[in-house]
Amino acid sequence: MSYILTDISKQIAVLTISRPDALNAINNEVIKDLSTAIKSCIDNNNVGVIILTGSGDKAFVAGADIKRMQALGPKDAYEFGKTGQQMTVLIENSPKPIIAAVNGFALGGGCEISMACHIRVASETAVFGQPEVLLGILPGWGGTQRLPRLVGTGIANEIITTGRMINASEAKSIGLVNHVVPSNELMNKCTEIGDQILKNGPNAIAHSLECIRRGIGTTIEAGLKIEVNKFSNLFGTDEANEGLSAFVEKRKPNFRGTK
Ligand code: CAA
Repeated sequence: MSYILTDISKQIAVLTISRPDALNAINNEVIKDLSTAIKSCIDNNNVGVIILTGSGDKAFVAGADIKRMQALGPKDAYEFGKTGQQMTVLIENSPKPIIAAVNGFALGGGCEISMACHIRVASETAVFGQPEVLLGILPGWGGTQRLPRLVGTGIANEIITTGRMINASEAKSIGLVNHVVPSNELMNKCTEIGDQILKNGPNAIAHSLECIRRGIGTTIEAGLKIEVNKFSNLFGTDEANEGLSAFVEKRKPNFRGTK
């Protein structure tokens, strides 16, 4: 049995991390199942957008499994850190946008998984945080790297060194999440964003995400070079021909062959 429930409808895959007894805390088995589920969505032509959420109404993911970590020495912890980081890189590098539907606690590794997603939508009850220092460890799945890139160094320094919890409205005010909605509207809001994305060219989307991701860690000159190469490579493709012609012909483009 997988820890991930997959539901695909109208080109949107909803992946639900399901380990309700432990507030969806992540161990090696969950990492393996989640990575497999994401790879399978990336390979599936019937999927254009992925929504990632947690089971139940209390937690997105309450972090890495603390009970398992208790037994780790430095060598095993290195492996666990690397494996978790690889999962976040898989999410971040997905050519199909991944939207985190944060339905409750997103702590430690849970906050880190949400930050690897391309878009974050939180319910009003969501709680974020990197409480690792309370445990005498530090964020190991990208928190020290992605949090400052999202919210700035000063705020990230405070969140990580205090380990304090951040409610949904503060998360919105610091740019950690895109939207905050009532719990019963969370999936609708994510689907609405997904539907809007699905109207657009899949290659244009994938390459835009790649430009943003690769550009953020480099100089503006190097980033512009990546952009102009990606921009020009789309010209002459079926997708760009369809999009540009549709505008000129005053019709809606059909990028995904669904009409
Ligand atoms: N690992 C393992 N089990 C966890 C867990 C975690 N991260 N978080 C919650 N659980 C388990 C609890 O142990 C409990 O199980 P039992 O009933 O068997 O004891 C069950 O989930 C329910 O949790 P609580 O009873 O604690 O629920 P609560 O409502 O009282 O508190 C909470 C909720 C504030 C989220 C609290 O569970 C908590 O603080 N969890 C730990 C959060 C945390 O520190 N996360 C960071 C982990 S370190 C990390 O992620 C490292 C990294 O960067 C990769």
